[in-house]
Amino acid sequence: MNSLVTESRALFDKAYSQINDFQIIQGMSELITGLHGIRRRTSPNDWSEFAKQGCLNHPIKSLVHQDPMTRRAFEKPRGYAGDAELLDLIYGLRPVPAETTSVGAAIYGFTVQASGTSAVRVRRDMLAEKIDEVAAEIEQPRMLAVACGHLREAQKSKAVAAGRVGDFYALDQDKVSLELVAREQSANGITPVHGSVKTLLKGETTFSNLDFVYSTGLYDYLPQPVAISLTNKLFDMLRPGGRLVVANFLPDVVSLGYMETFMGWPLIYRNDEEMADIAVNLPAGQVAAEQVYHDAHEHVVFLEVKKR
Ligand SMILES: C[S@@+](CC[C@H](N)C(=O)[O-])C[C@H]1O[C@@H](n2cnc3c(N)ncnc32)[C@H](O)[C@@H]1O
Repeated sequence: MNSLVTESRALFDKAYSQINDFQIIQGMSELITGLHGIRRRTSPNDWSEFAKQGCLNHPIKSLVHQDPMTRRAFEKPRGYAGDAELLDLIYGLRPVPAETTSVGAAIYGFTVQASGTSAVRVRRDMLAEKIDEVAAEIEQPRMLAVACGHLREAQKSKAVAAGRVGDFYALDQDKVSLELVAREQSANGITPVHGSVKTLLKGETTFSNLDFVYSTGLYDYLPQPVAISLTNKLFDMLRPGGRLVVANFLPDVVSLGYMETFMGWPLIYRNDEEMADIAVNLPAGQVAAEQVYHDAHEHVVFLEVKKR
């Protein structure tokens, strides 16, 4: 790891002085690209040690932590990575806190447009379109969002706004996020449900006859055996003709090195084969169609399965 600390020092020193001189775009671009390069040519163990420890002693850490998004991801005030308030910073739905420095606000202006964060907005928009697509095919479809966060895609859906979706369950393990969903979206027919991957797998939280089940921002945390079991459970909850869609980050997005270091936000990435593999235990006779596809920017992979 010491060699990585030495190797990264020149990169961090240069980015530090550029950002301090308010050359934000140049400094942040070089930092993100430089980290991506180091990550690519380093063994997973060495990289992980460097990301969690080695890189964090450089003063650039306190500089980039002036960005409220980078800092929130790193500090995890809700006790877990990727909470819905952080996602709202990514969605551009929160003003930067009043105490943010001018450098911090400028870094946020950069990070909110970076590839990893843009991918999250594209993912939300694709799900809003899927909701509309299902509602165009089926009258008053029954839907479930697993790990819904603030369920922002529903607020982008034309079908939800027009009252063309039937029962719409929004499940999350975070009660604070669900309270916000209740406040903002109960009037649109959304039902918040407190539950988790664990309660779903144990059968303590269950749904049936659903037309559409989806999950974004969850499978990126699930090891393969858990992902496979959850996929089976969710598929069981569909009625014939129903669809399941799950999303996952692809492995080589350029911002991942920055996310894993200064944001303290490592994920489990999946390629197409690994994504298809989470459907491996579905009863073949009940699968009408299965598709693996990407967003237009090649950041996120989707698995979509239709029940016979
Ligand atoms: C990255 S956010 C994604 C939120 C939303 N789906 C989106 O794409 O904006 C991850 C969400 O997963 C929830 N979550 C994490 N682990 C969970 C679990 N084991 N069971 C249920 N929800 C979970 C968190 O509370 C958080 O709201």
